[in-house]
Amino acid sequence: ADTVNLAVIGGDGIGPEVVAEGLKVLEAATAGSGPKVNTTEYDLGAKRWHATGETLPDSVLSELRDQDVILLGAIGDPTVPSGVLERGVLLPLRFALDHYVNLRPAKLFPGVASPLAVDRVAPDGIDFVVVREGTEGPYVGNGGSLRTGTPNEIATEVSVNTRFGVERVVRDAFERAQARPSKHLTLVHKHNVLTHAGHLWRRTVEEVGQEFPDVETAYQHVDAATIFLATDPGRFDVIVTDNLFGDIITDIAAAIAGGIGLAASGNINPARTTPSMFEPVHGSAPDIAGQGKADPTATVLSVAMLLAHLGRDEDAARVEAAVAADLAERGDAVRTTAAIGDAIASRL
Ligand code: IPM
Ligand code: MN
Repeated sequence: ADTVNLAVIGGDGIGPEVVAEGLKVLEAATAGSGPKVNTTEYDLGAKRWHATGETLPDSVLSELRDQDVILLGAIGDPTVPSGVLERGVLLPLRFALDHYVNLRPAKLFPGVASPLAVDRVAPDGIDFVVVREGTEGPYVGNGGSLRTGTPNEIATEVSVNTRFGVERVVRDAFERAQARPSKHLTLVHKHNVLTHAGHLWRRTVEEVGQEFPDVETAYQHVDAATIFLATDPGRFDVIVTDNLFGDIITDIAAAIAGGIGLAASGNINPARTTPSMFEPVHGSAPDIAGQGKADPTATVLSVAMLLAHLGRDEDAARVEAAVAADLAERGDAVRTTAAIGDAIASRL
């Protein structure tokens, strides 16, 4: 069988615990006929920063570039000033590796409780994906402060939207919509206020949409989208949106689809010139780190996305089915991180 070179970044807080379970499931899923998975661990995050002052050294980034795929736990720690690890590790990875598609599925599995009255607001279920732009928007760090700390302080954080960047993510979203049964794509933005970026996004959806005549398109302002996510989530199939709006609505999406403990994501470079990176949507949860309390399911579902990215759709489906079976039986039972990983792995 072929070999897959997998970089593993456990990161901070519960990251290493949930990643251990993800790897356990990956091993079970690829045992036998699967590829040989050759894992290399990279120590990035708070511990490294405290010890060396480093965030993402060039040498590590260049090693990561040579890997086939990356599994990440979580980055962020309250002992490090806000932004240092986010701007020093996570965002540089997404930017340097050109992860322009931040793919975040929201699927309510049978037996999983949603805070919504699902029978009423989504009788046909919740099953949509958010294609969040991953390399532009207000995340690029194009800002500054003037007269810091004075009553006349001015802070800017300029959202950067390029035709190139918008077009490639919009085209990817159309392709994903076309491959789904409903073939429906919603652009979420705020073009009534953000008239520059909003109009670029809207025009791009219109123009790229010419190539996908069978995909139906819709538009929602981001504020209205939050209403519909809570009251009529069944209307969504594929959503495409910018980096910051996507960050916000994917937390709502996770909440309505069973909670952040189940939300998986992929930071994908569809051109495959660099390794894509799969990570749970949740953060490092320092309050429960090291206690075996974290739910590794989001990481396991991220592993399923990783397998699909590697072209191993059958293995991905088997992992997802094992998770679905575990969720259906889970009830209110409280299990440790490792017990959940074991239970899912044992179904494979
Ligand atoms: C996420 C996180 C990150 C983001 C933070 C930690 C930089 O919230 O992956 O959603 O804003 O993208
Ligand atoms: Mn987020």
